[in-house]
Amino acid sequence: MAVLVTGGAGYIGSHTCVELLNEGEQIIIVDNFSNSKPEVLNQIRKITGKDFQFYQADLLNREAIKKIFSENAVESVIHFAGLKAVGESVSLPLRYYHNNITGTLILCEEMEAANVKRLVFSSSATVYGMNNPVPYREDMPTSATNPYGWTKVMIEQILKDLYTANPTFSISILRYFNPVGAHESGLIGEDPNGIPNNLTPYIAKVAKGELPKLTVYGDDYDTKDGTGVRDYIHVVDLAKGHLSALKKLRTETGVSIYNLGSGEGHSVLEVVRAYEKASGRPVPYVIGPRRAGDIASCYADPKKAEQELHWKATKSLYDMCLDSWRFTEKK
Ligand code: NAD
Ligand code: UFG
Repeated sequence: MAVLVTGGAGYIGSHTCVELLNEGEQIIIVDNFSNSKPEVLNQIRKITGKDFQFYQADLLNREAIKKIFSENAVESVIHFAGLKAVGESVSLPLRYYHNNITGTLILCEEMEAANVKRLVFSSSATVYGMNNPVPYREDMPTSATNPYGWTKVMIEQILKDLYTANPTFSISILRYFNPVGAHESGLIGEDPNGIPNNLTPYIAKVAKGELPKLTVYGDDYDTKDGTGVRDYIHVVDLAKGHLSALKKLRTETGVSIYNLGSGEGHSVLEVVRAYEKASGRPVPYVIGPRRAGDIASCYADPKKAEQELHWKATKSLYDMCLDSWRFTEKK
């Protein structure tokens, strides 16, 4: 029996595949490489010394997805595949709704047809919207400020409705905070195309000398030093959270939501300093205006995952920067 990993060639998916293989799980990866590269698959093999089945396919291609279920004994699905760039989702909303929502609908329909009832879904802290107080708890109301965020809010609802209609499903909705870092081997990590939107990939390029300086988006927030505060979580810690969720899914039916965060908030300037220390390189920055849609602080209350999944983040911000730098240097 195998775990089907959609989007397994991507940033979080590839790290999760490594952890699954290390735990002796059999996996099948499906990815269309819209935001990843085929080389990642060999890196996963290199790190783990294990092989797996791979399908280059789009979730929107129902026949291809049906074929995966008919050719394999799939026991559960971890669903990472989706488009994730917030800004791009504002200019290409239909592409985002179609890819993320229709892709998930086709996946769930084909799971149901193949009698596969265990699903782990990649949601995001973005569903807490602009108006909840920090730290965020899973029972707070959800909303969004951009099409990407709405796809997560809507898919969460779809999955809850699916369970209501068919209570033989076991569904775990994981709300990730800000994943950072890379596998300690330096063989896999986050490698966005073009100029990065997110903080640590941007800082990595500045430290490497590929970009001249970081622009800090605002220093007048109501936070410890005026810059934005986020809950950064090492991608390997995050990957391990999926194994804990899977373990629980195998023992019960239901739909559960968990924050996967450290519970700690770090400011932009704290990240800059940690990265400088880890890389031994300067990270020049200037203070710019606030970025539209940003909030002052976003961090998790991680107690539910700790109590129910027996999972918690273990790695520090410095570890995240060190591993990000090792990956960046090797590229
Ligand atoms: P990623 O872009 O690195 O990985 C996603 C993978 O899915 C890519 O390899 C891409 O090629 C693939 N994919 C996309 N659409 C597909 C389709 N229709 N069919 C087949 N494959 C498809 O992103 P990531 O950072 O690894 O994120 C994984 C998931 O976690 C996403 O759903 C994302 O929205 C969510 N998430 C990410 C973050 C973050 O900051 N990285 C935060 C919260 C939630
Ligand atoms: N920032 C800068 N300069 C930059 C980039 C970011 O100052 O060049 C700041 C932002 O203003 C923010 C912090 O760094 O205060 C983190 O920004 P990111 O873009 O790295 O991350 P966000 O918290 O904005 O959003 C990320 C993902 C979303 C996801 C959310 C919660 O991009 O998709 O985390 O998981 F929904």
